[in-house]
Amino acid sequence: MSLEVTVASLRLKHPVMNASGILGNTPKGIIKLVKLGFSAVVTKTITPEPREGFKPPIIVRLPTGGLINAVGLANSGKSVIKELVITARGLGIPIVVSIAGRSEAEFVDVASEAQRVGADALELNLSCPHTEGYGMELGADPKKVRDVVEAVASTTSLPVLAKLGLSDKVVEAAGKALEVGAEGLVLINTVKAMYIDVYALRPVLTAIYGGLSGPPIHPIAVKVIYDVYKEYEADIIGVGGVFDWITAAEFIVAGAKAIQVGTALVNNERVVEVILNGLRKWLQHHNARSISEMVGAAHKK
Ligand SMILES: Cc1cc2nc3c(=O)[nH]c(=O)nc-3n(C[C@H](O)[C@H](O)[C@H](O)COP(=O)(O)O)c2cc1C
Repeated sequence: MSLEVTVASLRLKHPVMNASGILGNTPKGIIKLVKLGFSAVVTKTITPEPREGFKPPIIVRLPTGGLINAVGLANSGKSVIKELVITARGLGIPIVVSIAGRSEAEFVDVASEAQRVGADALELNLSCPHTEGYGMELGADPKKVRDVVEAVASTTSLPVLAKLGLSDKVVEAAGKALEVGAEGLVLINTVKAMYIDVYALRPVLTAIYGGLSGPPIHPIAVKVIYDVYKEYEADIIGVGGVFDWITAAEFIVAGAKAIQVGTALVNNERVVEVILNGLRKWLQHHNARSISEMVGAAHKK
């Protein structure tokens, strides 16, 4: 049975991509992602210039499940895009370049480089919750989302995906992004959170706050996907806490056409295979011939 999907003009042999920030920052990482079976690879978020990010500890595994991270958008800057794209292209896999900036001009700068070297799509990080001046500071304001998406979409011919995170205005922000040319939405990023060491009596992360990922945020992501799909029936890629076929299927039924997986890779390198096997059986159970028949099914009941 085919699990093919098309999302924001990206034709994928199945719906499971990696989440930005997980392995996609070096050619070696891209090769690894392809070996793990993803249908497309997403790069770590790239800014115009290199960024060092925060000092360790930057990632902690939580006793309550999931991870909390404050990497601080560490990346090698836009010059790295070319080798990442060449590597993915050589392996015949679509590559989505995740980009960020502090202004429209910075987003456009990285977007042009990604287009110049042959990327397949752009994911605009409007949702990183822990880095001053970036991500969520723009994404929580629908007007800023509109300005950034419009600036990029009007200067590129690549499909533009807006990655938004949890905020009171996420549905409105999604609407603005779609209005000015986003072909799809990636929902959601990590959720701002904190972890305290009760012996040291201080926050564990040097950045104090971080972003929560993994199973604890899955129900939050389901709700955001459901709410946004209900309003716009947009092309959505769901991300947040997927670790098996049921958590993936839930996103599809809420309205996602594709899925990204991040944190689950830490414990299970076979997660893509596990998800795909389960989704095939699930489609058979419902006598469905394709994933698209199930997208948004929860809204039709
Ligand atoms: C260590 C780490 C680094 C991340 N870096 C990025 C990033 O560079 N850009 C981005 O948009 N999201 C980044 N994320 C967020 C993920 O892409 C994803 O939205 C989030 O982790 C929820 O998915 P998950 O529960 O499957 O991990 C990062 C997450 C983790 C755990």
